[in-house]
Amino acid sequence: MSRMIVPHTTPPSDSTPERARAVRKAVVPAAGLGTRFLPATKATPKEMLPVVDKPAIQYVVEEAAAAGLDDVLMITGRHKRAIEDHFDQAFELEQALAAKGDAVRLNAVRDPARLADIHHIRQGDPLGLGHAVLCARHHVGDQPFAVLLGDDLIDPRETLLSRMLEVRDRHEGSVVALMEVPPEQIHLYGCAAVEPSGEDGVVHVTGLVEKPSREDAPSHYAVIGRYVLDPAVFGVLERTPPGRGGEIQLTDALQELAAGGTVHGVVFDGLRYDTGDKADYLRTVVRLACDRADLGPEFVAWLRQFVAGLEEGGESGEGRERLAA
Ligand code: UTP
Repeated sequence: MSRMIVPHTTPPSDSTPERARAVRKAVVPAAGLGTRFLPATKATPKEMLPVVDKPAIQYVVEEAAAAGLDDVLMITGRHKRAIEDHFDQAFELEQALAAKGDAVRLNAVRDPARLADIHHIRQGDPLGLGHAVLCARHHVGDQPFAVLLGDDLIDPRETLLSRMLEVRDRHEGSVVALMEVPPEQIHLYGCAAVEPSGEDGVVHVTGLVEKPSREDAPSHYAVIGRYVLDPAVFGVLERTPPGRGGEIQLTDALQELAAGGTVHGVVFDGLRYDTGDKADYLRTVVRLACDRADLGPEFVAWLRQFVAGLEEGGESGEGRERLAA
C-alpha cells in the first residue's frame, strides 16, 4: 500500500527511563451509538466508516502503535462485530489474495491485526464514555494507560500522543489533550479551567466541565479525544453518578482528579478530525485523500476543477452541470 503519510514513530530509546515505559496499554472506546451519523450508523459502527480506504478506527490504532503502545483494548458493543472482524485474520480473503500473488492487498488485509496485541470487551449498554473506560479496569490493572476515542482522528503526522506520554512521565497523574475552539463551539465539548505550568504547551488543569454553555465555560480549551490516565481514575469512575445526558461522564471523574491537582493538559493546535460528525468526516476524507501519493495528484486536479465549476456556476449550479457533461 503506497502512502505519502507516514505515521510518526517514536519507539522508546534505550536511554528512556523505566518510568517512561510504564504506559503500554491503550483503550479505544467504540461502543457509542453514533446517532449524529444516522442512518449510515444504523448497522455499521461509525468507527468503521472509511476514511479513503481504511476505517477511521484503524488510523487510531496506528497512532497508538506509533507511540509505542503495543496492547490495545477496544470497548465495543452490540452491532460492533465489524470492528472485531477488521482487527482479526480473514482466512478466505487472505488465501484468495495469496493464490493470486497479490502481495500489496494481502498486506493491506493483514496489517490491522499486526498493529498491536488487540483485545475486545463489550460495554453491555452505552452508559457513557466514563462507563466505557471503567469497563477497561480489569484489563488495564494498576498501570497508567492511554485512551484514544475511536472516531477522533489526529493527523498521522502529529506527535500529540507521544507528547502526552512524555508529560505523564515527568509529572505522573493524568494528562488530557486540549484544543482552543471558538466560544460558540465550546458547548460541544468538555471544557478545562487551566493555569500556566511554566512549560511551553503544557498547562495545569484546575477544573473540568462537560459541554458548558458559552457563558459558563471556564476557558476556550476543549478536551479532545486523547487521554493518558492514572489508574486512580477507576476508583473515581466507580462512584461517579450519571451526569449530563444521563451518562457516566469521564469529564466528571477527571474533574475530581483535577481538583486534587493531578491533571495536566497538553495544548494541541494541529490537525484533528471528528469523524463522528458528518461535515468533519467529509473534510477528513478530502484532506487525507489529497495527501495520498497514489490518489492525491489526480484527486486534487479534479477537486480544483470541481471548485472552480462551483464558483463559476454560483448557486445556479451551471458549473456543476458543465462538469458533469
Ligand atoms: P460520542 O460523544 O461521540 O457519542 O462518544 P456517540 O454516542 O458515540 O455518538 P453520537 O453523539 O450519538 O453521534 C465519544 C466516544 O466514546 C465512545 C464512542 O464510541 C466514541 O468513541 N462511547 C460513548 C462509548 O464507548 N460508550 C458510550 O457509552 C458512549
